[in-house]
Amino acid sequence: MLSARERAHVTQVWDLIAGHEAHVGAELLLRLFTVYPSTKIYFRHLGTCPDEAQLQSHGQRMLAAVGVAVQRMDDLRAALSPLADLHAQVLRVDPANFPLLIQCFQVVLASHLQDEFTVEVQAAWDKFLTGVAVVLTEKYR
Ligand code: HEM
Repeated sequence: MLSARERAHVTQVWDLIAGHEAHVGAELLLRLFTVYPSTKIYFRHLGTCPDEAQLQSHGQRMLAAVGVAVQRMDDLRAALSPLADLHAQVLRVDPANFPLLIQCFQVVLASHLQDEFTVEVQAAWDKFLTGVAVVLTEKYR
């Protein structure tokens, strides 16, 4: 459960991202695939070297889901339920990949926000994204 202050940090940063989902999402995916190439195994259909349009297309969808999570922070489990089914039962993404994505997300945010991405803001985003990852990884059987 995020405190009122943590929520404010998450929303504040999201307001800066909103409208740039494709760009930020593409950057996030490129970083993930570069730093942790093993994650590319789930994206074989994009080929060995996804182009910018593919990165933007998936990045946009991923970030839009993060936007939904920001809007429904109190209701994450219900808001992300279909996405949790997809990742656990259809895609079968190993949960170990989520912390890797979270780490890359924070690096992308820090590189854009610079001084605004304070230790406190980062901690709030870490907690928020971890909450999203917990929901997305709890439907494995
Ligand atoms: C698909 C969000 C983490 C692999 C998707 C979709 C969304 C999404 C919105 C599209 C669903 C649809 O089209 O119906 C997220 C969010 C994540 C996350 C919010 C964490 C914060 C991951 C991780 C991996 C992954 C860690 C693997 C490293 C995939 C794959 C697809 C997918 C392979 C299908 C791609 C395609 O259809 O082209 N994800 N995802 N996701 N996700 Fe995730």
